[in-house]
Amino acid sequence: MGLKLAKLLILVTALFTFLVACSSNSNESVETISSESTKQDTSFAPYPDSEERLNGEDTANLISFGNEILPIIENACALCHTGRGPGVPHAKLDTAAEVSAYAFAIGAVVDSGYMPPWPASDLSVPFLHDASLDVDQRELIVEWVQAGAPVDVDGDTPVMPSQEVPFLVAYDQELSSPNFYDGERGQPDEYRCFIFDPQLTETKYLTGYEFIPDQTEVVHHLVGYRVTAEYREAADRKDASEDQGGWSCFGSTGLGSDEILTFWAPGTGAIQYQEGLGLQMNPGDFFVMQIHYHYDVEAPEDRSTFRTVWSTDTETQPINISTFSGPAEIPCAEWEEGPLCERDNAYLYAQAQYDGIVQADQILEACGYAPDDFADMTNGIASSTCDQPARFEGYISAVLGHQHNIGASFRMTLNPGTPAELILLDIPKWDFEWQFAYYPQEEIYVKRDDVIRLDCVWDRSLRPNNLEPSYVLWADGSNDEMCFAVIMSYQKN
Ligand code: HEC
Repeated sequence: MGLKLAKLLILVTALFTFLVACSSNSNESVETISSESTKQDTSFAPYPDSEERLNGEDTANLISFGNEILPIIENACALCHTGRGPGVPHAKLDTAAEVSAYAFAIGAVVDSGYMPPWPASDLSVPFLHDASLDVDQRELIVEWVQAGAPVDVDGDTPVMPSQEVPFLVAYDQELSSPNFYDGERGQPDEYRCFIFDPQLTETKYLTGYEFIPDQTEVVHHLVGYRVTAEYREAADRKDASEDQGGWSCFGSTGLGSDEILTFWAPGTGAIQYQEGLGLQMNPGDFFVMQIHYHYDVEAPEDRSTFRTVWSTDTETQPINISTFSGPAEIPCAEWEEGPLCERDNAYLYAQAQYDGIVQADQILEACGYAPDDFADMTNGIASSTCDQPARFEGYISAVLGHQHNIGASFRMTLNPGTPAELILLDIPKWDFEWQFAYYPQEEIYVKRDDVIRLDCVWDRSLRPNNLEPSYVLWADGSNDEMCFAVIMSYQKN
């Protein structure tokens, strides 16, 4: 088992090495833009303070839009739902009147926890930059909506983002794809991979970076990969195979070497590794940027860029990336039928699609399972649990979980069932659209033989029903699945 695990580690690490930084506002080269809110305090009608309100009978009517609701919207929503933000095609919240006009939808998405996007639950360790609303804020919005969404400021009052987005003050390069992509309105989700080449002629350490989205209304999120020089030819072939810039890709780049180095969503801003830390890149190594486009509106071709900060200091401490995989074995439900419901057939089918690379069997073995252990999960819900030794030692910088489209929930636990148990990441309702890297607030030190447990659950009802019934297993495609996690760690000097 030890040996198999080691082999698996090599395989999976090669496929998915993930790297996320400590975002640090402490570093001098990162600053924040702070757009001061321009609320018109003078125009408010006087309203009772919260204590008086508690005694009143119809409290909701007394909620002040200007003093209570608007600040929440400016904090938690405006970044994406004003200007050319990615939420604008869905709900444009540029003014007080628009917020009021969308009130019903706002109440619904806030009440359900769908917005603002922050899939991690409070069972997880506390994270930096937690974007979720607390219970009080949610209740306040819902009450305000139920009261008819009254607005006590001028309808034209602008909604101004109050969030601070860190940006790089200085950078060494601004990379872009040699060819751009131009999708069409109404086109379904497009995941597109582009080569961003830093043209390195010597080994360097990436110490900071920033993704600059161009067409912000259609650029939904990004996964950035470090790819080694040996894959360059394959990447060029893929790039040349489609007439637009880049190529279609989903679970990863499709190249076989997929070391994720960053995840970006609106509001992420610049990432700066802690002092003395860096991501090593050798001559010829390059980036592949997987951009997820949502074409709800017409937009010109997208010319997003990636700014990089490099160090040539050979004392730079490399950032350690540890990956963990649990089985993804999701048999057809009892009401489904077809040749691909046989696991062997589904496996061969996946092999044919991905140049023979299907990880399912090695992962099963490494976790001590056989396909039979999942055979009776035929009610449409399947799950897996896998315990593995951490195999690294250091402080956690970031954690991330990964499943595909029929993922239902995800959890990663450190030392489960012991007094030292810590839920590193709990995502009760998995959402492929909103995969974040999460940065624990507190220092968590992990030792080599600590246990990392992954718990994944899948729900076949999330599978598009125009697809042929099939046993779903661990592979790259959007209709395959994964149960995967990354822990980024560092040593203190
Ligand atoms: C990180 C960016 C982001 C933030 C922050 C954000 N949204 Fe959204 N919102 C989106 C995107 C993108 C969509 C489109 C749906 C999707 O892709 O999940 C959306 C969709 C919506 C919708 C339409 C839902 C539908 O089904 O049509 C509403 C309403 C909404 N958001 C309200 C809010 C409110 C209220 C907040 C703050 C409490 C908020 N959003 C915060 C990006 C964001």
